[in-house]
Amino acid sequence: MAGVKIQKLCKTFWINGQEINALSDINLTIEDGTFVTLVGKSGSGKTTLLKLICGLEKSTRGNISFPPPDKSINCQPERVSIVFQEPRLMPWLTVEQNMAFPLIKEKNRERVAKTVNHYLDLLSLMEFKDAYPAQISGGMAQRTALGRTLCYDPDVILMDEPLGALDAFTRKKLQADLINIFLLQKKTIVFVTHDVDEAVLLGQRVVIFEAGKIVEHMPVNLGYPRNPLSRNFLNVKKKILSLIVGENFN
Ligand SMILES: Nc1ncnc2c1ncn2[C@@H]1O[C@H](COP(=O)(O)OP(=O)(O)O)[C@@H](O)[C@H]1O
Ligand SMILES: [Mg+2]
Repeated sequence: MAGVKIQKLCKTFWINGQEINALSDINLTIEDGTFVTLVGKSGSGKTTLLKLICGLEKSTRGNISFPPPDKSINCQPERVSIVFQEPRLMPWLTVEQNMAFPLIKEKNRERVAKTVNHYLDLLSLMEFKDAYPAQISGGMAQRTALGRTLCYDPDVILMDEPLGALDAFTRKKLQADLINIFLLQKKTIVFVTHDVDEAVLLGQRVVIFEAGKIVEHMPVNLGYPRNPLSRNFLNVKKKILSLIVGENFN
């Protein structure tokens, strides 16, 4: 288990000699075992932040660490895993084999089979375990990608708009699955979305991004599952929308 601590983080890109400040002075502490959603317009730096956290990009300045609950040990960055908008499965492997892939070096194959079966079951994929990615729907493919991440058993799961390409019904089912998994496993989850409803439905805290900066940390003090039509839910949503769009929704 581990949280994520981000201090004074900056990332500058250069395109044709022009400087782009994708992230400026980001300070964010995500407690171990919490579910945080990042929301903001396209281009506000959300993907860049996830890439920096998992080491796919290097920061220009600042520091990222993974403080464990017990301060005597430090989580290694390889226990951080990312799920993208597209499932990125290996087309020549079945659903089951894709999920088992991160455990390829594990010698105890019985344990691998047990872990994979557990997540096939949890994600309602058992029936399709022998299917290839080309034979399953987008929602099943994304569940397989999530299962692959869970089999790896990371301390921190990063998700970059993982449900963005799904239809509304499949999306609702996966949102509910994610909440269940979070309640069962209490992993640290950092979930990016540009959908304010989704951010409030899932996050214990919603972090709002605007042009490479954090403009607000909004705690969501509601239990799971949440009712998107309840007054409390709508109040949080209105506050976030006013911060992003700059209008008063009351
Ligand atoms: N590899 C890159 N090279 C140059 N600019 C980039 C690169 N990646 C992202 N950017 C720029 O950084 C800014 C933030 O992008 P991104 O993190 O993808 O935003 P978001 O995920 O919130 O849509 C954008 O202006 C984008 O064009
Ligand atoms: Mg993005």
